Amino acid sequence: MLLKNKVSLITGANKGIGRQIAIEFAKEGSDIAFTDIKRDKNTGSLIEEIKKIGKKAVFFEADVRDFKRAEEVVQGVVEEFGKIDILVNNAGINRDRVIWKMSEEEWDMVIDTDLKGAFNYIRACVPYMRKMSYGRIINISSINGLRGKFGQANYSAAKAGLVGLTKTCAKELGKFGITCNAIAPGMIETDMIKNLPSEVLEEAKKETVLGKFGKPEDVAYLAVFLASDRAGHITGEIIKVDGGQYI
Ligand SMILES: NC(=O)c1ccc[n+]([C@@H]2O[C@H](COP(=O)([O-])OP(=O)(O)OC[C@H]3O[C@@H](n4cnc5c(N)ncnc54)[C@H](O)[C@@H]3O)[C@@H](O)[C@H]2O)c1
Repeated sequence: MLLKNKVSLITGANKGIGRQIAIEFAKEGSDIAFTDIKRDKNTGSLIEEIKKIGKKAVFFEADVRDFKRAEEVVQGVVEEFGKIDILVNNAGINRDRVIWKMSEEEWDMVIDTDLKGAFNYIRACVPYMRKMSYGRIINISSINGLRGKFGQANYSAAKAGLVGLTKTCAKELGKFGITCNAIAPGMIETDMIKNLPSEVLEEAKKETVLGKFGKPEDVAYLAVFLASDRAGHITGEIIKVDGGQYI
Protein backbone atom coordinates (compact mmCIF):
# COMPACT_ATOMS: atom_id res chain seq x y z
CA MET A 1 0.00 0.00 0.00
CA LEU A 2 1.41 3.34 -1.07
CA LEU A 3 -0.41 5.60 1.43
CA LYS A 4 -0.57 3.41 4.53
CA ASN A 5 -1.50 5.34 7.70
CA LYS A 6 -1.68 8.66 5.86
CA VAL A 7 -4.37 11.28 6.32
CA SER A 8 -5.55 13.05 3.19
CA LEU A 9 -7.76 16.08 2.66
CA ILE A 10 -9.38 16.43 -0.76
CA THR A 11 -11.49 19.45 -1.71
CA GLY A 12 -14.58 19.23 -3.90
CA ALA A 13 -14.71 15.44 -3.72
CA ASN A 14 -18.44 14.64 -3.88
CA LYS A 15 -18.08 13.61 -7.50
CA GLY A 16 -15.79 13.50 -10.50
CA ILE A 17 -12.01 13.52 -10.22
CA GLY A 18 -11.92 14.40 -6.50
CA ARG A 19 -14.20 11.50 -5.62
CA GLN A 20 -12.01 9.05 -7.53
CA ILE A 21 -8.89 10.42 -5.85
CA ALA A 22 -10.55 9.85 -2.46
CA ILE A 23 -11.38 6.24 -3.41
CA GLU A 24 -7.92 5.43 -4.80
CA PHE A 25 -6.22 7.04 -1.78
CA ALA A 26 -8.36 4.95 0.57
CA LYS A 27 -7.52 1.78 -1.37
CA GLU A 28 -3.86 2.64 -0.80
CA GLY A 29 -4.39 2.89 2.95
CA SER A 30 -5.16 6.56 3.63
CA ASP A 31 -7.92 7.88 5.87
CA ILE A 32 -9.93 10.50 4.03
CA ALA A 33 -11.28 13.93 4.89
CA PHE A 34 -13.13 15.57 2.04
CA THR A 35 -15.06 18.74 1.41
CA ASP A 36 -17.67 19.98 -0.98
CA ILE A 37 -19.78 23.08 -1.25
CA LYS A 38 -22.94 21.19 -0.24
CA ARG A 39 -23.70 17.83 1.31
CA ASP A 40 -25.71 15.81 -1.21
CA LYS A 41 -26.54 12.18 -2.01
CA ASN A 42 -23.02 11.63 -3.34
CA THR A 43 -21.53 12.62 0.02
CA GLY A 44 -23.09 9.73 1.92
CA SER A 45 -22.31 7.21 -0.81
CA LEU A 46 -18.63 8.24 -0.85
CA ILE A 47 -18.39 7.93 2.94
CA GLU A 48 -19.92 4.44 2.64
CA GLU A 49 -17.56 3.45 -0.16
CA ILE A 50 -14.48 4.53 1.81
CA LYS A 51 -15.71 2.70 4.92
CA LYS A 52 -16.23 -0.45 2.82
CA ILE A 53 -12.60 -0.19 1.73
CA GLY A 54 -11.76 -0.20 5.44
CA LYS A 55 -10.69 3.40 5.96
CA LYS A 56 -12.18 6.30 7.91
CA ALA A 57 -14.01 9.08 6.10
CA VAL A 58 -15.12 12.46 7.33
CA PHE A 59 -16.92 15.17 5.35
CA PHE A 60 -16.88 18.94 5.79
CA GLU A 61 -19.41 21.15 4.04
CA ALA A 62 -17.24 24.06 2.97
CA ASP A 63 -16.93 26.55 0.14
CA VAL A 64 -13.26 26.65 -0.85
CA ARG A 65 -13.57 30.40 -1.45
CA ASP A 66 -14.01 30.94 2.30
CA PHE A 67 -10.60 31.53 3.94
CA LYS A 68 -11.85 31.23 7.53
CA ARG A 69 -13.78 28.06 6.77
CA ALA A 70 -10.61 26.47 5.32
CA GLU A 71 -8.89 27.04 8.67
CA GLU A 72 -11.83 25.45 10.49
CA VAL A 73 -11.84 22.45 8.16
CA VAL A 74 -8.12 21.81 8.52
CA GLN A 75 -8.37 22.19 12.30
CA GLY A 76 -11.28 19.73 12.21
CA VAL A 77 -9.19 17.22 10.24
CA VAL A 78 -6.35 17.47 12.75
CA GLU A 79 -8.79 17.08 15.67
CA GLU A 80 -10.29 13.98 14.01
CA PHE A 81 -7.13 12.26 12.78
CA GLY A 82 -4.27 13.92 14.71
CA LYS A 83 -2.45 15.12 11.57
CA ILE A 84 -2.68 15.96 7.90
CA ASP A 85 -0.21 14.45 5.45
CA ILE A 86 -1.70 15.08 2.03
CA LEU A 87 -3.73 17.94 0.58
CA VAL A 88 -5.36 17.75 -2.85
CA ASN A 89 -6.76 21.03 -4.12
CA ASN A 90 -9.29 19.63 -6.53
CA ALA A 91 -12.44 21.80 -6.23
CA GLY A 92 -12.97 23.73 -9.43
CA ILE A 93 -15.58 25.22 -11.71
CA ASN A 94 -15.76 26.71 -15.18
CA ARG A 95 -17.88 29.60 -16.43
CA ASP A 96 -16.93 29.75 -20.10
CA ARG A 97 -17.52 32.87 -22.18
CA VAL A 98 -15.42 34.89 -24.62
CA ILE A 99 -13.58 37.72 -22.93
CA TRP A 100 -15.69 40.47 -24.52
CA LYS A 101 -18.83 38.98 -23.00
CA MET A 102 -17.47 37.70 -19.68
CA SER A 103 -19.03 39.32 -16.62
CA GLU A 104 -17.10 40.43 -13.56
CA GLU A 105 -19.01 37.83 -11.58
CA GLU A 106 -17.97 35.01 -13.94
CA TRP A 107 -14.35 36.11 -13.67
CA ASP A 108 -14.42 36.38 -9.87
CA MET A 109 -16.28 33.09 -9.32
CA VAL A 110 -13.69 31.07 -11.23
CA ILE A 111 -10.60 32.85 -9.89
CA ASP A 112 -11.89 32.66 -6.32
CA THR A 113 -12.81 28.98 -6.55
CA ASP A 114 -10.03 27.53 -8.71
CA LEU A 115 -7.11 29.69 -7.55
CA LYS A 116 -7.88 31.37 -4.24
CA GLY A 117 -9.48 28.14 -3.01
CA ALA A 118 -6.14 26.36 -3.36
CA PHE A 119 -4.33 29.20 -1.55
CA ASN A 120 -6.87 29.02 1.30
CA TYR A 121 -6.25 25.31 1.91
CA ILE A 122 -2.48 25.43 1.44
CA ARG A 123 -2.32 28.38 3.87
CA ALA A 124 -4.36 26.44 6.42
CA CYS A 125 -2.47 23.12 6.07
CA VAL A 126 1.13 24.26 5.92
CA PRO A 127 1.55 25.18 9.61
CA TYR A 128 0.58 21.59 10.53
CA MET A 129 2.74 20.07 7.80
CA ARG A 130 5.73 22.19 8.85
CA LYS A 131 5.41 20.89 12.41
CA MET A 132 5.64 17.33 11.06
CA SER A 133 8.38 18.20 8.57
CA TYR A 134 6.28 16.31 6.07
CA GLY A 135 3.61 17.06 3.53
CA ARG A 136 2.34 16.40 0.05
CA ILE A 137 0.37 19.09 -1.78
CA ILE A 138 -1.22 18.35 -5.13
CA ASN A 139 -3.05 21.03 -7.10
CA ILE A 140 -5.38 20.08 -9.94
CA SER A 141 -4.60 22.51 -12.73
CA SER A 142 -5.45 21.97 -16.42
CA ILE A 143 -3.70 21.86 -19.78
CA ASN A 144 -5.71 25.01 -20.54
CA GLY A 145 -3.70 26.77 -17.83
CA LEU A 146 -0.59 25.94 -19.85
CA ARG A 147 -1.81 26.80 -23.35
CA GLY A 148 -4.84 29.11 -22.92
CA LYS A 149 -8.21 28.21 -24.37
CA PHE A 150 -10.77 30.07 -26.44
CA GLY A 151 -13.69 30.99 -24.18
CA GLN A 152 -11.83 30.27 -20.95
CA ALA A 153 -9.97 33.45 -19.96
CA ASN A 154 -11.06 33.09 -16.33
CA TYR A 155 -10.42 29.34 -16.11
CA SER A 156 -7.09 29.40 -17.99
CA ALA A 157 -5.88 32.31 -15.85
CA ALA A 158 -6.85 30.51 -12.63
CA LYS A 159 -5.24 27.25 -13.74
CA ALA A 160 -2.10 29.09 -14.88
CA GLY A 161 -2.11 30.80 -11.48
CA LEU A 162 -1.98 27.35 -9.90
CA VAL A 163 1.21 26.66 -11.83
CA GLY A 164 2.93 29.69 -10.24
CA LEU A 165 1.47 28.81 -6.86
CA THR A 166 2.72 25.22 -7.16
CA LYS A 167 6.26 26.19 -8.12
CA THR A 168 6.48 28.86 -5.43
CA CYS A 169 5.19 26.51 -2.74
CA ALA A 170 7.72 23.90 -3.88
CA LYS A 171 10.50 26.45 -3.41
CA GLU A 172 9.25 27.76 -0.07
CA LEU A 173 8.29 24.45 1.51
CA GLY A 174 10.99 22.06 0.30
CA LYS A 175 13.15 22.66 3.34
CA PHE A 176 10.29 21.47 5.54
CA GLY A 177 9.97 18.14 3.73
CA ILE A 178 6.83 19.28 1.92
CA THR A 179 6.48 18.68 -1.82
CA CYS A 180 4.05 20.54 -4.04
CA ASN A 181 3.12 19.38 -7.52
CA ALA A 182 0.28 19.96 -9.97
CA ILE A 183 -1.60 17.70 -12.31
CA ALA A 184 -2.77 19.21 -15.58
CA PRO A 185 -5.54 17.05 -17.00
CA GLY A 186 -6.89 17.30 -20.51
CA MET A 187 -10.54 16.43 -21.10
CA ILE A 188 -11.72 14.00 -18.44
CA GLU A 189 -15.20 12.46 -18.51
CA THR A 190 -16.97 14.15 -15.59
CA ASP A 191 -19.94 16.47 -15.11
CA MET A 192 -17.65 19.42 -15.81
CA ILE A 193 -17.60 18.65 -19.53
CA LYS A 194 -21.08 17.16 -19.93
CA ASN A 195 -22.72 20.43 -21.00
CA LEU A 196 -20.07 21.44 -23.50
CA PRO A 197 -21.34 21.73 -27.10
CA SER A 198 -20.78 18.52 -29.07
CA GLU A 199 -18.53 20.27 -31.61
CA VAL A 200 -16.21 21.42 -28.79
CA LEU A 201 -16.04 17.85 -27.47
CA GLU A 202 -15.37 16.44 -30.95
CA GLU A 203 -12.59 18.93 -31.58
CA ALA A 204 -11.00 18.18 -28.20
CA LYS A 205 -11.14 14.45 -28.83
CA LYS A 206 -9.40 14.96 -32.17
CA GLU A 207 -6.60 16.85 -30.38
CA THR A 208 -5.74 13.82 -28.28
CA VAL A 209 -3.29 11.42 -29.87
CA LEU A 210 -4.97 8.50 -28.10
CA GLY A 211 -8.33 9.42 -29.65
CA LYS A 212 -10.23 9.41 -26.36
CA PHE A 213 -10.98 11.42 -23.24
CA GLY A 214 -9.54 10.43 -19.90
CA LYS A 215 -11.39 8.98 -16.93
CA PRO A 216 -11.18 10.21 -13.33
CA GLU A 217 -9.06 7.13 -12.55
CA ASP A 218 -6.38 8.32 -14.97
CA VAL A 219 -5.88 11.44 -12.83
CA ALA A 220 -6.32 9.60 -9.53
CA TYR A 221 -3.55 7.09 -10.27
CA LEU A 222 -1.04 9.91 -10.79
CA ALA A 223 -2.30 11.65 -7.63
CA VAL A 224 -1.63 8.42 -5.67
CA PHE A 225 1.91 8.33 -6.99
CA LEU A 226 2.60 12.01 -6.26
CA ALA A 227 1.18 11.61 -2.75
CA SER A 228 3.32 8.57 -2.03
CA ASP A 229 6.86 8.30 -0.74
CA ARG A 230 7.87 7.05 -4.19
CA ALA A 231 7.51 10.64 -5.40
CA GLY A 232 9.58 12.01 -2.51
CA HIS A 233 12.14 13.62 -4.83
CA ILE A 234 9.62 15.23 -7.18
CA THR A 235 8.48 18.78 -6.46
CA GLY A 236 7.45 21.85 -8.40
CA GLU A 237 6.33 19.72 -11.34
CA ILE A 238 3.27 20.13 -13.51
CA ILE A 239 2.38 16.75 -15.00
CA LYS A 240 -0.17 16.38 -17.80
CA VAL A 241 -2.71 13.57 -17.94
CA ASP A 242 -4.24 14.29 -21.31
CA GLY A 243 -3.84 11.46 -23.79
CA GLY A 244 -1.48 13.70 -25.70
CA GLN A 245 -4.05 16.48 -26.12
CA TYR A 246 -1.46 19.20 -25.49
CA ILE A 247 1.32 17.88 -27.73
N1 LIG B 1 -13.10 17.26 -16.28
C1 LIG B 1 -12.14 17.81 -16.98
O1 LIG B 1 -12.09 17.69 -18.21
C2 LIG B 1 -11.03 18.59 -16.28
C3 LIG B 1 -9.92 18.95 -17.04
C4 LIG B 1 -8.90 19.66 -16.44
C5 LIG B 1 -8.97 19.99 -15.10
N2 LIG B 1 -10.08 19.63 -14.38
C6 LIG B 1 -10.12 20.03 -12.98
O2 LIG B 1 -10.34 18.92 -12.15
C7 LIG B 1 -10.99 19.33 -10.95
C8 LIG B 1 -12.22 18.46 -10.71
O3 LIG B 1 -13.13 18.65 -11.77
P1 LIG B 1 -14.21 17.56 -12.23
O4 LIG B 1 -14.04 17.38 -13.67
O5 LIG B 1 -14.17 16.40 -11.33
O6 LIG B 1 -15.53 18.43 -12.03
P2 LIG B 1 -16.89 18.12 -11.26
O7 LIG B 1 -17.77 19.27 -11.60
O8 LIG B 1 -17.35 16.74 -11.55
O9 LIG B 1 -16.47 18.20 -9.72
C9 LIG B 1 -16.06 19.38 -9.10
C10 LIG B 1 -16.41 19.31 -7.63
O10 LIG B 1 -15.99 20.53 -7.01
C11 LIG B 1 -17.05 20.99 -6.17
N3 LIG B 1 -17.00 22.44 -5.98
C12 LIG B 1 -17.29 23.40 -6.89
N4 LIG B 1 -17.18 24.62 -6.33
C13 LIG B 1 -16.81 24.42 -5.04
C14 LIG B 1 -16.55 25.28 -3.95
N5 LIG B 1 -16.65 26.61 -4.09
N6 LIG B 1 -16.19 24.74 -2.78
C15 LIG B 1 -16.11 23.40 -2.62
N7 LIG B 1 -16.35 22.53 -3.61
C16 LIG B 1 -16.70 23.04 -4.81
C17 LIG B 1 -18.32 20.56 -6.90
O11 LIG B 1 -19.46 20.58 -6.06
C18 LIG B 1 -17.92 19.18 -7.41
O12 LIG B 1 -18.19 18.19 -6.45
C19 LIG B 1 -11.34 20.81 -11.17
O13 LIG B 1 -10.39 21.62 -10.54
C20 LIG B 1 -11.26 20.97 -12.65
O14 LIG B 1 -11.00 22.29 -13.05
C21 LIG B 1 -11.10 18.93 -14.94
